[in-house]
Amino acid sequence: MDVLTAIETRRAYRSLTPVDITPELITDLARCAQLAPSCNNNQPWRFIFVYGNENLEKLHSALNSPGNDWAKAASLIVAVCSRKEDDCVIRDREYHLFGDGLGVAFMVLRATELGLVAHPIAGYSPKKTREILGIPDDYQVITLINIGKHAEEISPILSPKQIEQEHARPPRKPFGEFAFDNQFGRPISEAERA
Ligand SMILES: Cc1cc2nc3c(=O)[nH]c(=O)nc-3n(C[C@H](O)[C@H](O)[C@H](O)COP(=O)(O)O)c2cc1C
Repeated sequence: MDVLTAIETRRAYRSLTPVDITPELITDLARCAQLAPSCNNNQPWRFIFVYGNENLEKLHSALNSPGNDWAKAASLIVAVCSRKEDDCVIRDREYHLFGDGLGVAFMVLRATELGLVAHPIAGYSPKKTREILGIPDDYQVITLINIGKHAEEISPILSPKQIEQEHARPPRKPFGEFAFDNQFGRPISEAERA
């Protein structure tokens, strides 16, 4: 799968079925995140790979947002954390979360290439996640990536809006709102969109 296809194929699906979690899969995903760029090569990201029924069940108590019950069907949950002092701080610019995002993006695209769903979420308790996984207090827990296989049938626990999003990718902002031509706010031309 080429990069463009992976980008276009990736979706934050919520209907998941189990997938075998092997040491090879975990090292493969860790390796792809490891190759992401970071400020000064600081590699601020820390990933905790959580798998196996007992470990997953413990972590499920951190999924305290009812809209995220679907994530309990994930076979692997990757908790992502980092701290400010492990990456560049240039005046008011703090780069550790930016670095995490790049590492997560690489991991998610690789998971997509492997035929998996890798769905990051923000709806969880960072406090409980920290307690369960032994993450020190000075690390910010920025996301949980829920990994599984895309189920053929839509999960019955999804809300009508979530079901809609299983069928079609949520719409994106038009280029005019985010892709600018030399000056902030000046939309790129139609020709450049092709
Ligand atoms: C940082 C982040 C937080 C998110 N939090 C949640 C969440 O708590 N629950 C959820 O169901 N989806 C969550 N999502 C998924 C987004 O809703 C989804 O990516 C977006 O609607 C676009 O859909 P697509 O990824 O299928 O293109 C999150 C995604 C990101 C990147």
